[in-house]
Amino acid sequence: MPVEDKCDASDFQIQVFEPKDYPAVKRLFIDGTMEGVAPAFKEALPHPVNMAVLAGIAALTYALPGHLRWLGFVVATAWIIAVYWCCHMFYAFYVNDKLASEMKDIEKHFLSSPGDCYWVAEHKKLKVIGGMVAVKSCAGASKKEMGDEVDRQYRRRGLGVRLTQTVLDFAQKHEYKKCVLETTKAQKAAQKLYLKVRFQLIKTYTPDINIFINPQKISVIPR
Ligand SMILES: CC(C)(COP(=O)(O)OP(=O)(O)OC[C@H]1O[C@@H](n2cnc3c(N)ncnc32)[C@H](O)[C@@H]1OP(=O)(O)O)[C@@H](O)C(=O)NCCC(=O)NCCS
Repeated sequence: MPVEDKCDASDFQIQVFEPKDYPAVKRLFIDGTMEGVAPAFKEALPHPVNMAVLAGIAALTYALPGHLRWLGFVVATAWIIAVYWCCHMFYAFYVNDKLASEMKDIEKHFLSSPGDCYWVAEHKKLKVIGGMVAVKSCAGASKKEMGDEVDRQYRRRGLGVRLTQTVLDFAQKHEYKKCVLETTKAQKAAQKLYLKVRFQLIKTYTPDINIFINPQKISVIPR
């Protein structure tokens, strides 16, 4: 069995980002974020607006003469592809925006102020980066700005919990009152992870942004 198949979270060392980590961190960020496309598409398909459009296409198709009904199938397929494309572009824009801003200079954005930090989880023997997480301070609260990203290969071994706990310990050390983070509705694994480490859901934005807070003191954080 390959070493990476039997390792667990304790085989990783969580350490502050160094410039040599950038290629691995960039790959993790792109892969982890773009994974959101398929769940977002699954959420979007049964959305009432989408259902109404498809029902409209079906009704128009029914009204067409028999030999033209294939057109309805083409339009419905094109619509579904367009919905998928929109989901893809939503995440692609987000990735491009982050790569051109915060991720372009991680040291400047996350490591130049004592209240901010960016960590990577490096496998002690294999020396590969299996996960990452970052935090930014904002007016007395710490904001978990770049959510946990764990390589698919190393998931469900407790690495997400360890990375999140690293942020919470850091926030406590820096005497932050709250730790705030956002997920999309489609990020089910992330939501379960944050609930497990005692974050609480405090707000859901339309259409699909969830805001979580930790620790126990609950209030709604203005955007
Ligand atoms: C979310 C993510 C970081 C979790 O990392 P992980 O290392 O697998 O998490 P852990 O092994 O520490 O799991 C902790 C808990 O989270 C929940 N969880 C994690 N993955 C899950 C999944 N696929 N389905 C259901 N629950 C899940 C479980 O409650 C789990 O506890 P358990 O294993 O005792 O049941 C990882 O799936 C990931 O990188 N996803 C893509 C990027 C992303 O969505 N990041 C969040 C940005 S806000």
